[in-house]
Amino acid sequence: MVAMQSVNKGEAKSCCEATPDWVRIDLVLEKYVGKKSQIIAALRECQEINGYLSEELIIHVSRFLRFPLSDVFGVASFYSLFSLTPKGKNTIRLCMGTACYVKGIKEINDRIVNEYQIGPSGISDDNRFGLEHVRCLGACSLAPVMVVNDDTHGAMTAEKINDILSEYK
Ligand code: FES
Repeated sequence: MVAMQSVNKGEAKSCCEATPDWVRIDLVLEKYVGKKSQIIAALRECQEINGYLSEELIIHVSRFLRFPLSDVFGVASFYSLFSLTPKGKNTIRLCMGTACYVKGIKEINDRIVNEYQIGPSGISDDNRFGLEHVRCLGACSLAPVMVVNDDTHGAMTAEKINDILSEYK
């Protein structure tokens, strides 16, 4: 069991930054103590829990695992699978390509923005969802298309949104 102080966790957060789940993060990190070759895996699990790798979280990983901060930050910033900015725990991608637009993706977008309180940063107030707009996803026959994390939802209607998004905690 590794005893390690978490860094500066008491600061107030902005509206889109939820407090990290330090208990889960520390449980994950315990598996990687002394395993510098697995720093990518450690960071990936931390990102899955927190939604992204904040500066605070990267510092915490460095201290907990006793790896140099420059090494941890170097890995976090090098690989595209890591995000250093808030994204929300679940990423919603809405296709704004022509076929999806014609079939009503804007109404779906507006419903999500209103019901899930998506702010100007594209993240819901509770950090549960990040909303991104993308160009044609190559699934025009399914238009309008919404992708949540790795799941594609075709023939979307505004009425389906709550049922689908309720599956993503
Ligand atoms: S326009 Fe949306 S998938 Fe092609």
